[in-house]
Amino acid sequence: MRFSMMATYVAVILIALTLLSIYILGILSGNLYDSEKVKLFAKANIISDAVTSITDIDEITRFNISQILSGTDIRSIVVNGDYRVCFDTNSDSDLNGKIIVREAITKCMTNGEQAFAVTQSRNETNMMSVAVPLINESGTSGSVYLVESISGIDSTISNIRRNLVLFAVIISILVAMLSLSLSLMTTAPIDNFIAVAKEISKGNFNIKAKEKGCSELVEMAKALNYMSSELDDFEQNRKKFVSDVSHELKTPLATIKLICDSIVTTENPAPEMIQDFLGDLSDEVDRLTRLVERLLTLTKMDANQNAAKLTPVDFVVMLSAIVRKLTPNAEAKNIVLYQDFSVESLNPMMLDYDKIWEAVYNVVDNAIKYTPEGGYVKLGLELSGNTVYVRIADNGPGIPDEEKEHIFERFYRLDDSRARDTGGTGLGLAIAREAVMLHGGTLQAENGADGGSVFTIALPYTGAAA
Ligand SMILES: Nc1ncnc2c1ncn2[C@@H]1O[C@H](COP(=O)(O)OP(=O)(O)OP(=O)(O)O)[C@@H](O)[C@H]1O
Ligand SMILES: [Mg+2]
Repeated sequence: MRFSMMATYVAVILIALTLLSIYILGILSGNLYDSEKVKLFAKANIISDAVTSITDIDEITRFNISQILSGTDIRSIVVNGDYRVCFDTNSDSDLNGKIIVREAITKCMTNGEQAFAVTQSRNETNMMSVAVPLINESGTSGSVYLVESISGIDSTISNIRRNLVLFAVIISILVAMLSLSLSLMTTAPIDNFIAVAKEISKGNFNIKAKEKGCSELVEMAKALNYMSSELDDFEQNRKKFVSDVSHELKTPLATIKLICDSIVTTENPAPEMIQDFLGDLSDEVDRLTRLVERLLTLTKMDANQNAAKLTPVDFVVMLSAIVRKLTPNAEAKNIVLYQDFSVESLNPMMLDYDKIWEAVYNVVDNAIKYTPEGGYVKLGLELSGNTVYVRIADNGPGIPDEEKEHIFERFYRLDDSRARDTGGTGLGLAIAREAVMLHGGTLQAENGADGGSVFTIALPYTGAAA
């Protein structure tokens, strides 16, 4: 990634600079050549005006020509109609009187128009030449030919070209260095993320991704760290759940083993004793069955297989049925279980009958179980706005404030040994809350007026639309 980022940047910059250089050099050389050409034609035309007679180029004319060309390296040659040299500013030249054939002169004499050519001299210097016709009454009588070395222009252009290449090389190196450091800055956090992700996959959730760099990288690191802490929580919960389940299973199994050992080691046990032991065994098996059933319910809920199977339910009738069902339990403890509904009837509500039954049943069952003999348990029902409130109040021991949320945790019991003696698994409220939440409701515990507790189940009143 680092290399491809760097190579892409350098390639883009190089292509851009090359195209720019070609364009600049094209424009520049075109301009320099054109202005030189214009200058040469201008001088050639002035000289052609100065040459009044091709047969007699007098001293004044020669002087004028040398004045026109003074300060330049332009060589001027005047030829007559036979291409014979009549005048040459290069006094050392032996061309005088000789016939010369040059591209520009030939074009000029043939067409009778001014002509231009760029040629190469013997020593490979580029030469620019122009020729303008000398016209008299009978037509083209000769030509003024100017030639000049354009090595100055060529060297200027090649200097600029060299500088542009140097410039491109420097820019490319800078871009390569910058892109390398930029890609290092970008890929270093990604390397860190990969390392962290590998550690997480090995189960090491303590390692954290570094939250620095640009905002996207910080967001990515935060997401990775959040995922790792969620996985950590999940793993801790899983471990706790497994150890809780093992612990809960161990106790009844140990009791069963103890009972069995007692029967086996007792010689000639009395039938009444066996009867008692078998009764105890049956209780323990019941407790195990309850525990396994509750665990299955929770496992299904966790696996999300427990989607609510909604059917229209007469909620008031359901609550009355629960009260009827639990009345024997209450009477056994001399507890007054009564209902106090502020509404006589409700429209049918869309509920999962079994789950809501179990939720309310668990809470009322708790109230009876944890309230001492002679107490009361009240089941209230109220409709407020679009919410139905079921309040289960008792005058039992209540729940300390700091425990109010914990009691909804799996396997959590306030008084572990006492609760276990009553056959409690510590799963009832966890299942109840999940069932209520599945319906979009809430289940909360509060302190009651008589020192007991009040559990409130709030459910959306789906019967409102009926
Ligand atoms: N009405 C109540 N008054 C006092 N404490 C309560 C009451 N309801 C629940 N608790 C406490 O909350 C704990 C958790 O209740 P939960 O229903 O989840 O488990 P459990 O009753 O012990 O077991 P199970 O519901 O399987 O019989 C109980 O062990 C008990 O200590
Ligand atoms: Mg319970």
